[in-house]
Amino acid sequence: MAISFSCSACSQKSSATKLTWFFALLLILATMIQVRAQPPTAGFVNIDCGWTNSSAYIDNTTRIVYRFDGESVEGGLSHEISEEFMAGAANEQQKTLRSFPDGPRNCYTLASIIGKKYLLRALFTYGNYDGLNKTMDGSPFLFGLHIGVNFWESVNLTNTDPSDTVWKEVITVAPSNAVSVCLINFGSGTPFISALELRPLEDTMYPFVNTSVSISYFQRFRFGNITDPITRYPTDNYDRFWQRWPDTSYPWINLNTNNKVKSLDNVFNVPSDIFQKALTIDTNYSHMSIIVATGRNQDGKSLQLLPIFHFADINERNLSRRFNIYNAEDLLFPDFSPLRFQMDSKYKSGEFLHADAFFNLSKTPSSSLPPLINALEVYSLVRMDNLTTDSADDKYIKEVKTHYNLAQRNWNGDPCSPREYSWEGLTCDYSKSNQNPRIVTVNLSTSRLRGGFAISFMNMTSLENLDLSHNNLTGAIPDYQLKSLKFLDLSNNKLDGPISDSILQRFQAGLLDLRLEGNPVCSNVKDTYCSKKKNTTSTMLIAVIVPVVLVSLLVVMGILWKLYWKGKSGDDEDSMYEEETPLHIDIRRFTYTELKHITNDFQSIIGKGGFGTVYHGTLENDDEVAVKVLMEKSIAESTDFLPEVQTLSKVHHKNLVTLQGYCQNKKCLALVYDFMPRGNLQQLLRGGDYSLNWEQRLHIALDAAQGLEYLHELCTPSIVHRDVKTPNILLDKNLVGIISDFGLSRAFNDAHTHISTAAAAGTPGYIDPEYHASYQITVKTDVYSFGIVLLEIITGQPPLLMDPQTVHLPNWVRQKIAMGSIRDVVDKRLLDQYDASSLQSVVDLAMNCVENAAIDRPTMTVVATRLKGLLPAVSSEKQSASATPRRTYSMDSEIPRQFQLMISGASNEGSSFQSGHTNGMSQMSLLSGR
Ligand SMILES: *[C@@H]1O[C@H](CO)[C@@H](O)[C@H](O)[C@H]1NC(C)=O
Ligand SMILES: *[C@@H]1O[C@H](CO)[C@@H](O)[C@H](O)[C@H]1NC(C)=O
Ligand SMILES: *[C@@H]1O[C@H](CO)[C@@H](O)[C@H](O)[C@H]1NC(C)=O
Ligand SMILES: *[C@@H]1O[C@H](CO)[C@@H](O)[C@H](O)[C@H]1NC(C)=O
Ligand SMILES: *[C@@H]1O[C@H](CO)[C@@H](O)[C@H](O)[C@H]1NC(C)=O
Ligand SMILES: *[C@@H]1O[C@H](CO)[C@@H](O)[C@H](O)[C@H]1NC(C)=O
Repeated sequence: MAISFSCSACSQKSSATKLTWFFALLLILATMIQVRAQPPTAGFVNIDCGWTNSSAYIDNTTRIVYRFDGESVEGGLSHEISEEFMAGAANEQQKTLRSFPDGPRNCYTLASIIGKKYLLRALFTYGNYDGLNKTMDGSPFLFGLHIGVNFWESVNLTNTDPSDTVWKEVITVAPSNAVSVCLINFGSGTPFISALELRPLEDTMYPFVNTSVSISYFQRFRFGNITDPITRYPTDNYDRFWQRWPDTSYPWINLNTNNKVKSLDNVFNVPSDIFQKALTIDTNYSHMSIIVATGRNQDGKSLQLLPIFHFADINERNLSRRFNIYNAEDLLFPDFSPLRFQMDSKYKSGEFLHADAFFNLSKTPSSSLPPLINALEVYSLVRMDNLTTDSADDKYIKEVKTHYNLAQRNWNGDPCSPREYSWEGLTCDYSKSNQNPRIVTVNLSTSRLRGGFAISFMNMTSLENLDLSHNNLTGAIPDYQLKSLKFLDLSNNKLDGPISDSILQRFQAGLLDLRLEGNPVCSNVKDTYCSKKKNTTSTMLIAVIVPVVLVSLLVVMGILWKLYWKGKSGDDEDSMYEEETPLHIDIRRFTYTELKHITNDFQSIIGKGGFGTVYHGTLENDDEVAVKVLMEKSIAESTDFLPEVQTLSKVHHKNLVTLQGYCQNKKCLALVYDFMPRGNLQQLLRGGDYSLNWEQRLHIALDAAQGLEYLHELCTPSIVHRDVKTPNILLDKNLVGIISDFGLSRAFNDAHTHISTAAAAGTPGYIDPEYHASYQITVKTDVYSFGIVLLEIITGQPPLLMDPQTVHLPNWVRQKIAMGSIRDVVDKRLLDQYDASSLQSVVDLAMNCVENAAIDRPTMTVVATRLKGLLPAVSSEKQSASATPRRTYSMDSEIPRQFQLMISGASNEGSSFQSGHTNGMSQMSLLSGR
């Protein structure tokens, strides 16, 4: 009925309707065609930094619309690259840039949707814009990038060609309705930026990225016979840059298909185009290796990498293809078989590998075909641990900034965070580690403020001190109800209006310190807040007298107390727990009740040592901690406890366990450390079912060596650990070695170590022989113990072993080597999977550390350097062991050129990739496995 009615009703206009329909259809068709040709760029933010024309333009190659950066940044200077590079610039974005000579941090703010996942890319083309030849003048040229309030990566342009374009990408979740990117001045050259691109991703993509974890682009390759050096939008809807793997010559074999490759999940949304091409090897070969090492201009020391492999078997014939995927000796994915004509991505959610990645795809015996790969992404971990300023405080202080037009002040990015870049004139409260920082002080004295009082101050509910003195403020002092406010300085302004009752009341009640002198309003008011001297002296007096009296009282009481207990000489246990005069210690002080709560009534014991018992605990913010409750007896000697804690709270190194807090009172004496989930090195070497591989062992040895080096060389005075041993080397979740129990030995003198002999220090088997003779503790004492640790790492044996009589590990190693070969000392759990040349060097180094005379032992710096030197050798061991063709390419300095090629469309040459760089970051090598 409805249909016929509508038809008849429209009948007179039928021809017109048809025409409309026709056009509508055409339009739909046209849109469809357009969608086909160019996927939507909705949500893309494209900023050409330094572009001065406020009208947008369409990029000639990508057809993406770019805009100027005026609305997303304050400050900085626009520049064009030098004339000589203009002609070579492949696109508009490369031609202009914005530099930031002023201020330690300058931020771009891009509108975003809170909680949405984005890919953010920043591009840098120096182009000698300042005529200073900064990249080539021999001095370091680098600056930092923050994503929000967290460190993202550094941009190192030292020794790069001025025409190069470097890019950085991060995949992150928008923390609010804006994403900010900040350039950090490291004092090694003026930061600048050429372009910024924001691409929304589906929320299902990259599932391990969340509000506390972002990932930074390290490498992204596609394989097969591809013409474009870089594949990006519109092939990739999300405009990721996929670089072409440089080498596809024999015995590499390109696979191609025109058949459709199905996609079943939407975790990565890799373009199907990428899956239609793959790289495999000649069937005579059985494995392929992909090395993605750290490049010259990347700081690889602290990187943790996450690989994502993309596969689809596009072989027409249905033959079995199975392979193992390794990273070095770690089997990441056993017996993997790519699906036929269907995408399959392999990754370990949230599991980051340590440092360089050496991937090996190795055919399994049952497979008919060799391995294949279509694409590979590698990201590094970016922790988003730092909290942003309380959102209300942030909003209101930004209103204040707008109100008083404070753009020139370099009030940029987050007001309080990270701490060292907080806005000048603000003081924030960071004391609650799991709460956003709050603003407690705003000092805008002498800031040329004019106009009325910004009412936004009134909504900053943590504000305690507000100093607006020496400005040109006019009008009234408004009804300021803020209870937190304790100090309000409005002196030397032009305020002439009335003072609100609420302020006066709080002043009269002594809750608010008010200063108004030097304002017209004081000409007819004669109260203390208007008369400078009287007011200040009275507060000064109170401020001085009270503490002085209190301190004197405390001192007198303290002396009396000490005298009293001296007399009793410790026959009452309580005397040992007495509080010392509090020192200034930056870490948290716990109460006994808190510790009881944190450890769930001291339920779970995770260790026992010479100093006491260690319990597992969980803080309010779910951080896991180890609570070391010190033995009562040792407390007797603990007069050094607080100074020691103070020292330890200042020791910060990635290989030293972090002290989170302490407890010292009548009921407890305890230290609270970060919890290390993988236990200690002794357990890993000799217990359990997990076996460390050779490279992991060397990494842990290096970690420990670096921790000790820090204690010896960078602490003043040096800290001698005195009890270096495998149980004191803990492992975090990424198997990074972390040294614990340092420093304690000084505070808790000799009596409480593992040995009963009163004079000795350390643990049997680890003790420096010179110590027995001289009782001298030096840094070389630790070197000796470290040598024993290194021998344990190699052999898996304890420091004192029964063979059949007790024998000291260094002697056992000497005997074995003398009687047979160096291979006989190696831990059987390594299953002969180790590098023979590095083995010899590590054994030599260990034996060097356990020399009888301290003077013959190396310093920890030397030890660390030698271990570091051994690590890359481990990665390449497999290659040197093989005589098959092997190619090495540097991608590092080629990236920019590829980028230009891609943009200029001149993509038909490939030979320049092979031009003689050898210290590159990416290599692919072939290994025969016949
Ligand atoms: C795009 O190309 C045209 C012609 O090739 C050129 O005139 C124009 O300047 C280019 N525009 C931009 C923004 O590069
Ligand atoms: C920049 O410095 C390098 C190395 O000192 C030099 O070879 C080059 O000619 C310089 N270029 C310019 C434009 O000054
Ligand atoms: C967090 O802030 C601290 C101090 O403000 C800074 O040292 C640290 O590098 C920041 N952490 C990250 C992940 O950026
Ligand atoms: C790559 O593909 C092109 C055509 O797209 C073809 O001409 C060329 O021979 C191929 N090269 C290899 C090594 O397969
Ligand atoms: C920056 O790159 C230069 C040249 O490759 C390198 O020597 C330097 O160590 C790098 N600096 C940092 C901090 O990574
Ligand atoms: C401050 O907060 C109150 C509610 O507590 C609100 O009514 C007022 O609009 C806020 N003032 C400003 C300046 O945002």
